[in-house]
Amino acid sequence: MTTEQIDGFLAAIPLPAVLVDQTERIIAANTEGATLLGQGILGRHFATILRQPSVATAIEACLRDKTPKTAKHLSNDGAQDTTFAVTLRYVPGIGAVGGGAVLACFDDITERQQAGQMRRDFVANVSHELRTPLTALIGFIETLRGPAREDAQARDRFLGIMEGEASRMNRLVGDLLSLNRVESEERVRPKEQVDLKGHLSSTLKTLSPVAEARGVEMELDAAEETVSITGDPDQLQQVFTNLVENAVKYGGDKVQVVLTYSERDPAVRAPAARVQVIDNGSGIDPVHLPRLTERFYRADSHRSREMGGTGLGLAIVKHIINRHRGRLRVESELGQGSVFTVILPV
Ligand SMILES: Nc1ncnc2c1ncn2[C@@H]1O[C@H](COP(=O)(O)OP(=O)(O)OP(=O)(O)O)[C@@H](O)[C@H]1O
Ligand SMILES: [Mg+2]
Repeated sequence: MTTEQIDGFLAAIPLPAVLVDQTERIIAANTEGATLLGQGILGRHFATILRQPSVATAIEACLRDKTPKTAKHLSNDGAQDTTFAVTLRYVPGIGAVGGGAVLACFDDITERQQAGQMRRDFVANVSHELRTPLTALIGFIETLRGPAREDAQARDRFLGIMEGEASRMNRLVGDLLSLNRVESEERVRPKEQVDLKGHLSSTLKTLSPVAEARGVEMELDAAEETVSITGDPDQLQQVFTNLVENAVKYGGDKVQVVLTYSERDPAVRAPAARVQVIDNGSGIDPVHLPRLTERFYRADSHRSREMGGTGLGLAIVKHIINRHRGRLRVESELGQGSVFTVILPV
């Protein structure tokens, strides 16, 4: 095969690929390969380019026994770590004195690895979240069967706690299903018309007993007459309910909801509505902000659990807002309260 033919074959491989012959030099690379490993690698000894022992050893072995090999190559493009699965195959008859060469292809498996890790974390989290109330339930059942058998007062108290734990599990399962549904619909554009002002005032009405019980004052501030967007009414209700509920649960004694409209919102570069949920509570430490919308992430887990929270609320909120092609902004400072802003393109 001529050099042109070899280059032509390599160019047709949709992955970074390089060819190493029996002189242990890189004799060809496609564009993706040169981008990954650097320009000017042609003619260099492979070990000066592929220094990671796993890859270098595998290439040597493949050149020697001409059988397929695999290895892992780790790379960092300055921004993030990337993992490549390297497959090595022996190609006879090419390279120096026709002694054959090894074709190394680099397959980026970072996302697959992350997805696997996320799935494992998720299962671990769900199990943990369910086990805690279950352990409590089992403990109370034992107590009710044994020592508290004849104690009517204790029985009442324990049943109350058991009810609380069972409803926490129920909420958790409900939130998980909701998250699943929202995720599976994320690519389906909503198409109903939603009047945000009406929607917000009914959310506040629904939550007013909760707010009253905690002595929190709520206020809706909407200068625009009507702001109507294309959206999914139930899902938007879920977003506002969770944000206002969080502000009531974790905030101070005042929650303000502000609705504004702008012809050109800088965040989405289009006409958009903004809903801000502002509280005057103790705020959130900035270290938590980047991870706040992760499933089961809680800034103050003790307090959240005490309030019966599942830690899934903001994860659901984020997916719903994504589906509406909107943005979620969180600004908070310890001791200064928090502002959750939802930006929804109109
Ligand atoms: N307004 C707020 N002020 C302070 N902390 C907040 C506020 N909103 C959210 N948080 C923190 O963010 C965490 C995640 O919120 P999220 O709504 O996802 O979960 P949750 O409220 O604990 O549970 P759920 O919403 O499922 O009942 C909360 O546990 C809380 O620590
Ligand atoms: Mg919540």
